[in-house]
Amino acid sequence: MKILSSKAIKRLESLVFWANDKTIEKYINKEQEKYLQRKLKEKKDLVVIDQQGHFIFVLAVKQKDIHKEWEQYRKLGAQVFSQLNKEQLKSFHIEAKGIDNEQVKFFTEGVLLSSYSFTKYHSDKKRNKTYLASISINSSLKQANLDEINEIYKAVSFARDLVNEPLSYLTAEQLGEEIKGSGKAYGYNTEVLGKKQIEALKMGGLLAVNAGSFDPPTFSILEWKPKNAKNKQPIVIVGKGVVFDTGGVSLKPTAGSMDEMKSDMGGAAAVVGAMQAVAANKLDIHLIALVPATDNRPGNKAYVPQDIITMHDGTKVEVLNTDAEGRMILADALSYAKKFNPELVIDLATLTGAAHAAVGMYGIVSMGNAPIRYKTKLSSSGNRVYERLVEFPFWEEYGELVKSDIADIKNLGGPVGGAITAGKFLEHFTDYPYIHLDIAGPAYISATDAYRTKGGTGVGVRLLYDFIKNFK
Ligand code: BES
Ligand code: ZN
Ligand code: ZN
Repeated sequence: MKILSSKAIKRLESLVFWANDKTIEKYINKEQEKYLQRKLKEKKDLVVIDQQGHFIFVLAVKQKDIHKEWEQYRKLGAQVFSQLNKEQLKSFHIEAKGIDNEQVKFFTEGVLLSSYSFTKYHSDKKRNKTYLASISINSSLKQANLDEINEIYKAVSFARDLVNEPLSYLTAEQLGEEIKGSGKAYGYNTEVLGKKQIEALKMGGLLAVNAGSFDPPTFSILEWKPKNAKNKQPIVIVGKGVVFDTGGVSLKPTAGSMDEMKSDMGGAAAVVGAMQAVAANKLDIHLIALVPATDNRPGNKAYVPQDIITMHDGTKVEVLNTDAEGRMILADALSYAKKFNPELVIDLATLTGAAHAAVGMYGIVSMGNAPIRYKTKLSSSGNRVYERLVEFPFWEEYGELVKSDIADIKNLGGPVGGAITAGKFLEHFTDYPYIHLDIAGPAYISATDAYRTKGGTGVGVRLLYDFIKNFK
């Protein structure tokens, strides 16, 4: 998408105004003016004036809560995009002189994010086509601000693409290729370890999950290290990269429960997207992303319940359910992260049905032992980008539930607190300030919700970007 800071309004172009901007009078007639006033009195937050072939949109958001207000702007952006696209319009202008920058930013973000669609496998290229190709904006935002929004949009779209790609394309190795491609394009370093190197590192968890698969696992290391980095120790972000989760020999029941499992690398997509956005916008923060990746399926050599797996850090894990595979591969990544002496580690994972059931698509389940200041910052980022966090307890007692009789720890908790016992399992492999984000609820949605397009949502990209941008 082209986004240009420009004062010029072209004739016959669709326009967006904020309510009570008098300059609109030049573009509408008396009748339309009356219609507008009537609609505004009815407290409509968006008024659309149809001008045969193009539109004038008037925004009149009123929300007491600032985060809801910003979210409303994103949603209106989605509505405006949908109208424009129905008419196959290729451009429009946002007239926002004197308007608060945040409002303009979030409105534009809503337009951009809603313009995404996954059409790679459509033979008819007109189906779900996005016609919009350029936006001009008159506001106090600088061109650099607009470029930043555009890069964030590209990163979210990249994450959505990765989630939307099925296993028939996106194997663990292909995910590695996608990561290398992004690194090359955006100037961050990538290293994609193959099976031999993963064996040499004794990543027993990743290898066990991969054992039933035809396709080898990968372990990707992404790094953005600017010279002027404000942090001495890196932030490490870790994403679950299960490119398809059948459950393994603890096979998921077919009725529905497997239908969305190409999205089980939503955490990986989030950290890769965030890395891309951070590098594209050249943030002054040293950032490392780790992506352990494999599919999880039954096969001749598949790991089975009661196996005892020696992990990368030497921990012995009793496997009780092969469908609890996310924690097996993340554990190896988390112990690998120790070597970077990180200031903070955050993992994102579509980890548990329990987190999904607890908050649905509306929230991210969070927990961890990191100092409160990090949690507060992350939570404010969540409110700002509207990927809101719900903090779960992380009490020691839950750790008791993953102790094993026959080994050090088991990959299955008790009947309660499934999201938390998964988090406690992961904590075992850390020795640094740690936050775990379970995105099983919001990573994938079956119907479009305003600017969150159906399928992969790219959740986590904007959250991490905002957090990293405001880190120091
Ligand atoms: N990938 C699933 C979790 C999931 C479920 C994500 C629904 C998105 C939507 C994960 O690997 C899994 O199967 N978890 C099991 C763990 C259990 C066996 C301890 C679960 O939550 O049921
Ligand atoms: Zn599973
Ligand atoms: Zn899974």
